[in-house]
Amino acid sequence: MSKRHLVTAALPYANGPLHIGHIAGCYLPADIYVRYLRRRKENVKFICGSDEHGVAITIRAKKEGITPQQVVDRYHGMMRDAFKELGIHFDVYSRTSSDVHKETAQAFFLDLHEKGIFEMKTTSQYYDKEAEQFLADRYIMGTCPVCSHTEAYGDQCENCGSSLSPTELKDPRSMLSGSKPELRDTVNWFLPLDKMAPDIRAYLDQHSDWKPNVYGQCKSWLDSGDGLQARSMTRDMEWGVPVPLEGAEGKVLYVWFDAPLGYISATKELLPNDWEKYWKDKDSRLVHFIGKDNIVFHCIIFPGMLMAQGDYILPDAVPANEFLNLEGQKISTSRNWAVWLHEYLADFPEKQDVLRYALCASAPETKDNDFTWKDFQSRNNSELVAILGNFLNRVYVLIQKNFEGKVPALSVLSETEKEVFDSFHKAPETIGKSIENYRFREALAECMVLARMGNKYLADAEPWKVIKTDEAAAAHILGVAARLAAFIGQCIEPFLPFTSIKILNSFHLSEMQWQDLSSLDWPSFLKEVNIEYPGLLFDKLEDDVIELQLQKLEENKVQKRAEASITIAAAKEAVEFDDFQKMDIRVATILSAERVPKTDKLMKLLVDTGVDQRTVVSGIAEHFSAEELIGKQASILLNLKPRKIKGIESQGMLLFAEDPSGKLHLLSPNSEIPAGSSIG
Ligand code: MF3
Ligand code: ZN
Repeated sequence: MSKRHLVTAALPYANGPLHIGHIAGCYLPADIYVRYLRRRKENVKFICGSDEHGVAITIRAKKEGITPQQVVDRYHGMMRDAFKELGIHFDVYSRTSSDVHKETAQAFFLDLHEKGIFEMKTTSQYYDKEAEQFLADRYIMGTCPVCSHTEAYGDQCENCGSSLSPTELKDPRSMLSGSKPELRDTVNWFLPLDKMAPDIRAYLDQHSDWKPNVYGQCKSWLDSGDGLQARSMTRDMEWGVPVPLEGAEGKVLYVWFDAPLGYISATKELLPNDWEKYWKDKDSRLVHFIGKDNIVFHCIIFPGMLMAQGDYILPDAVPANEFLNLEGQKISTSRNWAVWLHEYLADFPEKQDVLRYALCASAPETKDNDFTWKDFQSRNNSELVAILGNFLNRVYVLIQKNFEGKVPALSVLSETEKEVFDSFHKAPETIGKSIENYRFREALAECMVLARMGNKYLADAEPWKVIKTDEAAAAHILGVAARLAAFIGQCIEPFLPFTSIKILNSFHLSEMQWQDLSSLDWPSFLKEVNIEYPGLLFDKLEDDVIELQLQKLEENKVQKRAEASITIAAAKEAVEFDDFQKMDIRVATILSAERVPKTDKLMKLLVDTGVDQRTVVSGIAEHFSAEELIGKQASILLNLKPRKIKGIESQGMLLFAEDPSGKLHLLSPNSEIPAGSSIG
């Protein structure tokens, strides 16, 4: 092993809370890895913090009508606390809006600048004259050149999935003002990855042992059509680390330049005098845990930056996981399709280890995987409760009942018992090898094998029968079982730290160094102590608890969809007054309302428009009952061309306002006025 390990976990964007996808993809495997190294008494530092720059943050701020700083202040604290509560134990959790980070990132940029690394290039970018700023790709919307979807973003069309560049969009409009942006020239600082390609290729070739998903993605980037391209390391934006050069006013460092340098500034924050050893000494080993969307940044761009600077070590391993889906669908913050960590912790306050177990057992290590609440329930009920919890509980209860809670001593071991002890001795090494190869599912499964062996030992030895005839023999059996139980408590610590500590405390033990587990002396491993009964380690999750979670998911999803469509919708293009005048909008009184048969959403309404009485079909049945509507006044677009909806001719359109929870509201005058009154 190396002299020092610096283990990082991707700095999460402080633009929203953490969900289980984040945890399974990156933070839990990183935590398990680091706990294991700590148990081996390795010199290891575990680094993380909030990524507080970039467009993700400014978009969130705009949506909520607050400043970017307010956004990051809110989520930074929230994420730090949620990690801690789940037992994800960083040595430092820093943030990229800190002073030390600003200084570090600027100094790094200046250093590359002075070394003459950057190429300055002029490019044309969209500029919003009304908002007086250049537009990030995400701030431009328009019509997709591929599928003609009118709400495509400057970097991607969410309708057909094409990745785009802003100039490809038809009818581009700015999301800031709604106006048509113009192209303007701007100068930025580019990292010449094209020229660095041979060095980057050589570096990657040294790491063909990386996980196939990681190595493969890097290779295909290198080998794709045009190969590596120079990439701009600065952006025309307000929010970020200012470019520390004269003439660069209004420009900040590209978020993917500044964020990975956040690993360095966090290390500085942790070890102001000692940080350089971890980053510059050849005996240090740098490991980045990330999700798969971060692969090129950590395997190509960041190493490229470090190579260009020259003094730093390069990442030695980048164990990236694939994505975790939820109930068969992609986890999505904007659709609110997620199990949020802080909500889980509030709903299941004592069940951190259950989540850690479920997420590790079905981690997306080699391919995308699915989290389902049913699977969560069965991991808990049939594995944690039925296997691990059951074994420990039987040991506790039998010793309590027959030996006043005191661990019995061992007498002579049978052949079977010697074999069981042998298998246990070998397990830590097997588990360790799996962890060192980033195969955490496999490692956890090995722990469960131990619990199964414990159960089998008890079932075969039947101490509850033996006790009736031979108390000494029963004492010996439970002495063996207690040692197996305590040993399991030692092995599960990287995975299930909360449960581990309970078990170890119950036997008055502390954590042993991992290597020593393979040769411990069984008789003296446990003293004849009085066991402190820790209570049930796991309890059964009933169907109604799981149902409730599923319901919550569905409810949240609907709510958020409505919210997103309101707050994200960009201002539309300007219209002429004459065009507006063409619309005949009036106050109408609802005379009758009935649900359209065999539909969930449609309602057929008869309205008095002042001009006439007419039928309107409206998609509001999920929002209003007929009784709520009859007699109310509403707004109607009278001269919308009649349309057939489910065979009924709809003569006009009722207008509604949608609130952030997705609920619809009638637009009625604030006191009753004659039907037919014009709105305008
Ligand atoms: N904030 C990025 C994300 O969530 C990850 C940044 S990792 C770092 O995808 F290296 F840049 F810090
Ligand atoms: Zn499209």
